[in-house]
Amino acid sequence: MDISIPHPTCSITIIVNGDRLQLDAHPWITLLDLLRGDLELTGTKKGCDHGQCGACTVLVDGERVNSCLKLAACLDGSRVTTIEGLGRPDTMHPLQRAFVEHDAYQCGYCTPGQICSAVGLIAENNAHDRAEIRELMSGNLCRCGAYTNIVDAIEEVMGRQAAKPARETAE
Ligand code: FES
Ligand code: FES
Repeated sequence: MDISIPHPTCSITIIVNGDRLQLDAHPWITLLDLLRGDLELTGTKKGCDHGQCGACTVLVDGERVNSCLKLAACLDGSRVTTIEGLGRPDTMHPLQRAFVEHDAYQCGYCTPGQICSAVGLIAENNAHDRAEIRELMSGNLCRCGAYTNIVDAIEEVMGRQAAKPARETAE
């Protein structure tokens, strides 16, 4: 017996890194899988795929989100920015440059998510010192433990490097 199972799609329009795209997306596909699969934007990383690690962080309409928890079909009309859209090697975003200058990574797997999250953090304007940066970046895990340098990079871009207190040893 042949059983035909329909695979419905949703027609959506999203703007990814400035490019307006019209797509037919399966209703179950996440933004993360859409980016990495169909759109071949593999800078965004898949870690846990369950909203626990932050490796998949991108910006949706300027706000940082875990793309593994967002269904693409719900993002019709949204503007998505990934690490590729923030800057390129010859035109780096200030946070990308700061991460390089502060050696704020080791394997680099978490780094795109860290940088996108930091862009969102700075836009939120809720972090005013190192402790608040650490707290508000706590959704982005780094298995290499580059946290101190990550905070250094973010703090510099926030323009607070000059007022930096003695580095806490607990980082
Ligand atoms: Fe999305 Fe870990 S892959 S939070
Ligand atoms: Fe390796 Fe963060 S640099 S996980």
